[in-house]
Amino acid sequence: MGEERIMKYDLVLKDALIRDGFTSWEGDLAVEGEKIAALGRGLAGKKEIPVHGKWLLPGILDVHTHMSLPFAKAVSADDFFTGTRAGAFGGVTTIIDFTSHRGEEGLKEGFKRRLAEAKGKAVVDFSFHACIGRFNSRVEADLEWARDHGITSLKMFTAYKKAGLMMDDGILYQAIAKASRYGILPTVHAESGHLIDYLIDSLAAFGKSGIDGHVLSHPVFSETEAVQRVCTLAANVGSPLYIVHVSCGDSAGIIGEWKRRGANIFGETCPQYLILSEELLTPPAGHLFASTPPIRPKAQIPGLIAGLKSNDLSVLATDHCPFTIRDKNTWGGDFRQIPMGLPGIETLLPLSLWRGQEKGLPTDLIIRALTVNPAKLFGLYPRKGTLQPGADADFVIFHPGKKVSVTSKKLHMALDYSPYEGMKVTGWPEMTFLRGQCLVAGGKFHGTEGQGKFLPRGLPRFA
Ligand code: URP
Ligand code: ZN
Ligand code: ZN
Repeated sequence: MGEERIMKYDLVLKDALIRDGFTSWEGDLAVEGEKIAALGRGLAGKKEIPVHGKWLLPGILDVHTHMSLPFAKAVSADDFFTGTRAGAFGGVTTIIDFTSHRGEEGLKEGFKRRLAEAKGKAVVDFSFHACIGRFNSRVEADLEWARDHGITSLKMFTAYKKAGLMMDDGILYQAIAKASRYGILPTVHAESGHLIDYLIDSLAAFGKSGIDGHVLSHPVFSETEAVQRVCTLAANVGSPLYIVHVSCGDSAGIIGEWKRRGANIFGETCPQYLILSEELLTPPAGHLFASTPPIRPKAQIPGLIAGLKSNDLSVLATDHCPFTIRDKNTWGGDFRQIPMGLPGIETLLPLSLWRGQEKGLPTDLIIRALTVNPAKLFGLYPRKGTLQPGADADFVIFHPGKKVSVTSKKLHMALDYSPYEGMKVTGWPEMTFLRGQCLVAGGKFHGTEGQGKFLPRGLPRFA
């Protein structure tokens, strides 16, 4: 009788509850090199890690981050190393950040600048949305280059006029039309810039500079108006459109209406809009909770939950843009000077699952909004966002029963406060793997600065 030879994979995670957002079953996941090699039962590995009772999820994608972003008098506190390391503690294995755009540049210069900032620093895989403040002939001429180099989404703004980022409707219409002609997905920060600037200036004229000025100058209708407008433009030019950081239930409703009329509109929301609300934007610490768009009246949250349930909002991401207390304090009592943004990358997975469950959303739906949905929309599927054999071996071991009281002292972002301080959450990630390598286990970082790779992306997939 011949000797029985047992195939031994490089690594096997044993007896996990494997959850890919569609099904869940108890079994093993095997890794060979950087790829998932097999899923099954009784798989053998040269190295085996028992994870009975834990969930094994695809690595999380955070498709909206701002590492080292200059804003007002500050720069966001996390760079590509600290931010992605914190993300790894939270189960994130892929980020999509943004290129920068100066003057009359096309798309190449800002891409090269940001690639140089991320390379050698990021510990998870990364890509960029091409981000523009103007749609000029050089940008137009670079669209084909961007697509061919795997930058298959274009970020634009209907706000931030004073920062030189706001586009008017004619230009936006043109940019959406031309980007989509190349298969590039147009994405928009939708807030009504003209209206907001008018309100800001009026409040300032009355000497209203406190934190309530931020709330009063960013009413719910300043988002819904812009969401309605950009959906109208995209639908009428026959282009798909992705709306970032949808903060109001009413906006989710508008996206839903356009979807029901056959438009290819996609919405992203963020944990801060599902958990935090406007009462926090009050003295003395309100400026620490300030972002654009702002956290909203509580009454907007059910509409966001309904939007997730109906898939009108199909992606959860963070808009990770943290500023230290010291940097937030540079506002000096004038809301116009606040560096806007909130931390998020490390808590994306646990807060989304916890809040989603609390609000009655199916766990699988939340998992999809963090993995397969963004991977498809941003041209990374099936390399990322799934647990299929052949995919990158990016996965998270999640302890569903672990009780954690959130505190900045135990988080790893370059930040000295957390908007979620003291919140009691059930369920927390314990181990994170990127392309078969352990990034985090036992509360420690085991990765290496710079091990993250730039990901050239394919075209968006809408189903
Ligand atoms: O307040 C925010 N969101 N800061 C980051 C920039 C943006 O608009 O996403
Ligand atoms: Zn934005
Ligand atoms: Zn953002």
